[in-house]
Amino acid sequence: MLYAALGSIRTGGVICEIGVHKGQNAEVMARHLRPVLFYLIDPWDGSCLRRTLDWDAVMAQARKRLYDVGAADACMWLRKRSDVATGDIPERSIDFIYIDGDHHCEAVWKDIQAYWPKVRVGGVMAGHEWDTCRVTNCVTPPVVRTFGDAVRAVGSDSWCVVKREDTAIVTEPPDAWHRKPYRRWVAKPLTFGEL
Ligand SMILES: C[S@@+](CC[C@H](N)C(=O)[O-])C[C@H]1O[C@@H](n2cnc3c(N)ncnc32)[C@H](O)[C@@H]1O
Repeated sequence: MLYAALGSIRTGGVICEIGVHKGQNAEVMARHLRPVLFYLIDPWDGSCLRRTLDWDAVMAQARKRLYDVGAADACMWLRKRSDVATGDIPERSIDFIYIDGDHHCEAVWKDIQAYWPKVRVGGVMAGHEWDTCRVTNCVTPPVVRTFGDAVRAVGSDSWCVVKREDTAIVTEPPDAWHRKPYRRWVAKPLTFGEL
């Protein structure tokens, strides 16, 4: 998790999580950042995980967690895939977004592309499963290809990037690179106060 970074992100802002599941990470985000608005995006239907679960119950757990942490009024529950939810979120409005939804390479790339314009200047985009063995070839290449040296490693398994100016991000389309063998990438760790 992003404990190290959360201390540097402004509280009382607009935050978003893609891939909420039972809300464990969302609870931590809400507790530390006390958002006025929290977009929680997840289809809660198993379509992307191919796992049979009682998805209504999974979503209910997330709702309870956010209620218990006192963030219920701030929550906007978007029970849909991230590519569909983009229309619900204004451009340049998000202070902090955490991407932890569909971990396929192309899906990660699409989330980055679609949600970068939603982040305000000075805001932070981050995500999970950075350089962990299971998904190294999925998450890391689109992140590195898109942001290069601007990527910071946070903790053992997250990445983050600050949006320093209101520029579009330009990367090659995924077909050009996403199946190429991956060279281990060493990102500089985030230092306190850097965000
Ligand atoms: C690893 S879990 C998220 C865990 C959560 N972030 C936490 O740490 O507590 C992945 C979640 O992403 C959701 N998901 C999968 N594909 C998605 C998509 N295209 N858009 C939004 N959420 C998606 C799944 O339904 C699942 O609940």
